Amino acid sequence: MNYFIHTYGCQMNIHDSEKIAGILEQLGYEACDKAELADVIVFNTCCIRETAEQKIYGHIGAIKKLKRTNPNMIAVVCGCMSQQEGVAEKIRTSYPFIDVVLGTSNLNLLKEALVSAQKKKKYSNVEFLKYREEDFYEARTSYPNAWVNINYGCNNFCTYCIVPYVRGRERSRPLEDVMTEIRRLLADGYKEITLLGQNVNSYGHDLDNGVTFASLLHEIGKTDGKFRLRFMTSHPKDLSQDVIDAIAEYPTICNNIHLPVQSGSTEILRRMNRRYTRDDYFALIDKIRAKLPDVGITTDIMVGFPGETEQDFEDTLDLVRRVKFSSAFCFVYSRRKGTPAYSMNDQIPYPVKKDRITRLLSCQNEVTKQISRSMLGLRYEVLVEGENSHYQNTMCGRTESGRLVNFKCDKSQIGQFVTVEIERANSATLWGNIITEAQ
Ligand code: 5AD
Ligand code: SF4
Repeated sequence: MNYFIHTYGCQMNIHDSEKIAGILEQLGYEACDKAELADVIVFNTCCIRETAEQKIYGHIGAIKKLKRTNPNMIAVVCGCMSQQEGVAEKIRTSYPFIDVVLGTSNLNLLKEALVSAQKKKKYSNVEFLKYREEDFYEARTSYPNAWVNINYGCNNFCTYCIVPYVRGRERSRPLEDVMTEIRRLLADGYKEITLLGQNVNSYGHDLDNGVTFASLLHEIGKTDGKFRLRFMTSHPKDLSQDVIDAIAEYPTICNNIHLPVQSGSTEILRRMNRRYTRDDYFALIDKIRAKLPDVGITTDIMVGFPGETEQDFEDTLDLVRRVKFSSAFCFVYSRRKGTPAYSMNDQIPYPVKKDRITRLLSCQNEVTKQISRSMLGLRYEVLVEGENSHYQNTMCGRTESGRLVNFKCDKSQIGQFVTVEIERANSATLWGNIITEAQ
């Protein structure tokens, strides 16, 4: 019996898919690499932007044909899209060949849902249930990297964002549970841990025991062994000096912060309910760089938010040039039903959004190119992470600051730390040679 999982969206979903895979493997299913061969096919969905949603509906629709050749195949839709209001009903009526629909917080029902589907009985539950995530066995496929959830949900309600509605309010995992999982992963040989949360900096606020994100970083920083720690995502309004100090204190904690700015215009930030200004963001960047001069700062930026004027957009370009992000994920604002921005006046026409995203991408590209050139000839410690799927016989890994480097070495070196000298830089892509043998 085989399973196949289609994963859409962010790291949170990629990690949820590892949990889904774990549940399926405990039930005796094995992973396969083609949907046509699967007895269970799972769509772990995303609804952050309309484009993601449209693509997923297309893929779900294609299952109808597969089910004609394999009527016993079980099709499951779960994740953020199915948690949206009205979607479970829409799937029931418009996609009747889907057997199971689950929301974001009730993966623990997957087993009973499959049993029901095996008896040809449809199963749907998108109620918000609270489960203990650490009960899951995770079938991880990302060695030497491992994701670890620290908090779920979000309380920020940025006016464009659907996440608080589909992932619920902030819930932090107890510190001991996080530490137990990390120690187990390190004992299993994982070399890089990435802490996941919609807003990692508010970790602990709901635990009422004084635990904070900084105290979690100290616990991990004091843990023995050679490994790297990263975390995402940080909200600029919550990134404290304590956290910056902890990054500086422990060599294990990477000099790398993902700090979504979203816009360079104070007025747009206000309308987005981001609760910081353009100047606050600059001040925060200065504070970080004063303590961590080699830090790599990455970001998310959106263009075409309702009411964004040409001047607002120019402010974003100016911020991008001044901050010098090592990379930026750039998005076109997408109207999400149920969010406050959906009903704001002055929605921006698509051609304007398209023009702005093109200009933003080329602006960031220039910045990335400059940073890449400044790295030429320098040596960096890199964790060998795996093969580069685009180039034959090429391995890749990241510097501490988060830049991806391609180089030649043997597959057996995956999971080892090596020193790489950068010899070629092509805008976002770096190539290098290993200087010392693996340690
Ligand atoms: N439209 C476009 N981009 C969005 N993001 C969140 N909501 C939307 C939306 N409605 C982007 C933000 C966020 C990233 C994960 O996705 O930049 O940081
Ligand atoms: Fe969405 Fe804002 Fe929460 Fe991030 S902080 S998940 S953008 S509401």
